[in-house]
Amino acid sequence: MSGAVDPWHDDPHLGEIVVAEDVLDKRVAELGDELTADYEGRPPLLVGVLKGAFVFMSDLARAIKLPVEIDVMAVASYGSATTTSGVVRIVKDLDSDLTGRHVLVVEDIVDSGLTLSYLRRSLLAREPASLEVCALLVKEGQQPVKLDLRYVGFHVPPDFVVGYGLDVAERYRNLPDVRVYKGPVTVG
Ligand code: IMP
Ligand code: MG
Repeated sequence: MSGAVDPWHDDPHLGEIVVAEDVLDKRVAELGDELTADYEGRPPLLVGVLKGAFVFMSDLARAIKLPVEIDVMAVASYGSATTTSGVVRIVKDLDSDLTGRHVLVVEDIVDSGLTLSYLRRSLLAREPASLEVCALLVKEGQQPVKLDLRYVGFHVPPDFVVGYGLDVAERYRNLPDVRVYKGPVTVG
């Protein structure tokens, strides 16, 4: 870390490291290799779910040794900052036409899975050639329905976590690792 002091070292709201930086790097490289093999001859369109997935997608895209294309969408779920109501709204839609494309949805974290099941239904209606999901984190024991997650980075305990793209009220997205958040949760 180039001699600089970790700007978060004395933040009382940050708890233990759930996934360390080197562990993230290694797993993203592995996922990249797996995706490179699986999608050989049919380069995928990566669909990043903003904002949380932006760090993961940036690293993952460079770990896939294929001519991928990138698009993003943003969804908002009604509910508080730490719970999802299941009612999801597309805030920013894709620029790309998905018809006949091999779509790989890139998600930061799956908690209840409600956001993802809504997204999957909505994207499948656009008739892609295939649709798979790559989620960096999946919270253990939280999903009421079985989700078909083809690619998963890590299964993590059901704590609220921040870093590597994940936020609380827009903060901590630039933490290089994933940590437990112990502070008050602001709705936003
Ligand atoms: P789900 O619909 O309950 O699966 O919630 C998924 C979305 O909620 C994720 O894409 C995140 O944006 C957000 N989320 C869920 N858990 C966390 C967390 O621990 N930290 C930060 N964001 C989270
Ligand atoms: Mg979010």
